[in-house]
Amino acid sequence: MSRKLVAGNWKMNGGASTLAGLNDLAAAYQEAPIDIAVCPPAPFLAHADHIVSGSAIEIGAQDCHTAASGAHTGDVAAGMLAELGCAYVIVGHSERRADHGETNATVAAKAQAVLDADMRPIICIGESLDQRKAGQTLEVVAEQLAQSVPDTEAVHQLVVAYEPIWAIGTGEVATIEQIAEVHGELRAQLVDRFGEEGVGVPLLYGGSVKAGNAADIFDVAHVDGALVGGASLKPDDFMPIVNAMLARV
Ligand code: 13P
Repeated sequence: MSRKLVAGNWKMNGGASTLAGLNDLAAAYQEAPIDIAVCPPAPFLAHADHIVSGSAIEIGAQDCHTAASGAHTGDVAAGMLAELGCAYVIVGHSERRADHGETNATVAAKAQAVLDADMRPIICIGESLDQRKAGQTLEVVAEQLAQSVPDTEAVHQLVVAYEPIWAIGTGEVATIEQIAEVHGELRAQLVDRFGEEGVGVPLLYGGSVKAGNAADIFDVAHVDGALVGGASLKPDDFMPIVNAMLARV
């Protein structure tokens, strides 16, 4: 069984008041039998880590470069994020694949950089609406999984997030059947590739997860948590999602 994880992705949102909300999260979850992470924009990481220190909340980044250092103006290396106190780095989010042309190969290299820095990559995959309509979903996510997850011995450090692009920020959540079908396929692929260790890789669902639908999603087989966008910005929205998972362990 994999340990459960609820992670918030602030994307390019947030500011002083959003950061202040982390005090409430840290106070509410001093200890927890699940993993809880918040991924603010890079400039806020050090401050965020300071606020949650001593609580069960861990901090994650939203991206990193593939290289350990060098002439890459504006980019951030995984080692720097580890030094700041990050435990996770999201890699290959569909917004980065779209905005920055990131390929599966780039995503795998980023995930490897995260592993090399002793953090856990949250590797994102997911089909577009056109691909779903064309009946290509399982084929697309299987290829993304195969090519975006690096060959590694550190299988226990991997996290995979299934985020159908059409469900991100749209309020349109995938159905229970759709989530079950994809997560079942992803688990089978992971076990095929990594053997028994593949069972322990947390599989997160992402895409319009809210307080009102989290419990039903968490009841789906092979859903080990959520990657939450909009509803992670305010403690009042995020805490019920965390609590829905806590009620299930
Ligand atoms: P929303 O929860 O806002 O749909 O975003 C999901 C997401 O992209 C998390 O990475």
